[in-house]
Amino acid sequence: MRLIFVGPPGAGKGTQAKIICAKWKIPQISTGDMLREAKASGKLPQELVQKMASGGLVPDEVVIDLIRQRTEQADAQSGFLLDGFPRTVPQAEALDKLLATRAEKLNVVVALQVAKDLLVERATLRRTDKRTGQIYHLKYKPPPPDAELEHRADDQEEVVRNRIETYEKMTADLLPFYEKTGLLRRIDGVGEVEEITRRVMAALEAAK
Ligand code: AP5
Repeated sequence: MRLIFVGPPGAGKGTQAKIICAKWKIPQISTGDMLREAKASGKLPQELVQKMASGGLVPDEVVIDLIRQRTEQADAQSGFLLDGFPRTVPQAEALDKLLATRAEKLNVVVALQVAKDLLVERATLRRTDKRTGQIYHLKYKPPPPDAELEHRADDQEEVVRNRIETYEKMTADLLPFYEKTGLLRRIDGVGEVEEITRRVMAALEAAK
């Protein structure tokens, strides 16, 4: 299976992606995680660090290159879940071209939908365990006492609001793009995590 998870900041893409990838034994490929790793190792150019910190998108060619390299790796040959990529129509077109060169196809695009106020609450109270990568929430999924918690630099309320605005502007054309292909499944992302997993799984099973 080759899947895409689309959705605004805090919609639950990472949370659901980890569950689905563990069930289906496919890699979760998150451009956000890859960019944060590049930043942590000092390899991300300063202007891109600033772009992320302000809630904007990094240039298409940067993330397209990351995806090209990552999907060439051995563990991605029988499928993958793209989390947060593509975010623009040029990125989606580049992905189509890339897959065509390998005679591969996408199976389904899941769009998680959550109202804006809930997105802000979800993102600002998110904490991640540095050691395990596990995602927690101070209200909805409290971390265990021994977790080594990180608060993402872009999870300050003002930046979260900018990220939501960027998503609305930059990603607006992406859903109609995938709607036309017949691959898009819009899923209500409000409810218990387990209930949303059930909704996603039902959409994926139907697309197999
Ligand atoms: P990225 O890391 O992709 O961030 P994002 O898209 O803004 O998404 P988030 O990680 O904030 O949210 P999520 O949907 O994964 O939610 P989560 O599951 O963690 O991108 C970061 C930046 O990198 C971008 O701003 C951009 O600069 C750059 N970038 C990345 N990709 C790019 C691209 N393709 N092109 C250009 N630039 C790119 O959940 C959030 C919280 O809610 C957690 O605390 C979780 O525990 C909680 N939660 C989840 N589900 C539920 C639920 N059902 N009920 C209650 N709480 C829940």
